[in-house]
Amino acid sequence: LSFHDRFDDLKLLKPVIFTGKEVLLLDQTKLPETEKYLKLKNCGEVAKAIKTMKVRGGGAIMLAAVYGLALSAINSRGNLKILKKDAEILKNTRPTAAALFQAIDFILRIAEKSSNVAEDVQQAANWLFKKTVEMEIKVGENGSKLFEDGDTVLTHCNAGALAAAGYGGVTLSVFRKCREKGKKIKVFVTETRPYLQGARLTLWELKKFGFDAVLITDNAVGYCMQKGMIDKVLVGADRIAANGDVANKVGTYLIALAAKKHKIPFYVSGTIDPKIKTGDEIKIEIRSPEEVLIFNGKRIAPKNIEVFYPAFDITPHQYVTAIITKDGVFKPPYNFGG
Ligand code: MRU
Repeated sequence: LSFHDRFDDLKLLKPVIFTGKEVLLLDQTKLPETEKYLKLKNCGEVAKAIKTMKVRGGGAIMLAAVYGLALSAINSRGNLKILKKDAEILKNTRPTAAALFQAIDFILRIAEKSSNVAEDVQQAANWLFKKTVEMEIKVGENGSKLFEDGDTVLTHCNAGALAAAGYGGVTLSVFRKCREKGKKIKVFVTETRPYLQGARLTLWELKKFGFDAVLITDNAVGYCMQKGMIDKVLVGADRIAANGDVANKVGTYLIALAAKKHKIPFYVSGTIDPKIKTGDEIKIEIRSPEEVLIFNGKRIAPKNIEVFYPAFDITPHQYVTAIITKDGVFKPPYNFGG
């Protein structure tokens, strides 16, 4: 039985697999049409796949990176200097999600103390995989307490199975646990321009698990709320500051504003980064104009125009009704600083 097969009864969607020789990534840019795994043989290839969004979502990026480090350690026969250089390359891929940086530093601390770096880095990466699955299940369990039978829940982007180890991330896991408890949930999903994580990925996952789901355009959120079609909002977070400020896919803040106006609970699930005091300290990734300008291979705006494309935004804690983590459900005032 390989390490990943041990989780078979959980029905993982497996965005990231490690074979001991290669990192296999379910190519998220090809979904939903094609379910194809990329076979990556070294850390450089993994870093490139993260940067180009073949794998995306905080947890899945983190797992791809730590297995990339495992490849680095194996290929270099445990050379610490090479491992540290590769760690730096991985850290320069996507700046906003907290998990990537925490996990890389964790792996480096283990490698520095190890007498068998290749083996220990691999073990540590597998341990992080297992911990991620456990986190997803606990978040699902805790989050499911906030929802009732018959709720219609709006979500944004993809913070589900494809954004983590594959159980359900921090959103689909909640829906899976609700179902286990006999609560029927219907999910409204925003397209999430320009990469369409909602349309392409979240709906693919929800369909796989047979959930009732509706695709809406990003700018239909206000209308649907106004018409009483949304009971609750649940979004993931790439980083949650000690004061409860949330970094998540751009557009999340607008959804929070609309939810406040319509008195709809706005729930956020994810992992806290207690070292970050407020949202002001979170680095927001600015991505290439091409991703906005080119849709389905075709340019959609005139030549020579300026584009500004922040990939994330900060939702101030005042808009967050509750934060769901593996440790429980937290209500304001938030103080995760300790
Ligand atoms: O740019 P992405 O697709 O990596 O962004 C991911 C997100 O913003 C997710 O929506 C998410 O909610 C958090 S994943 C832990």
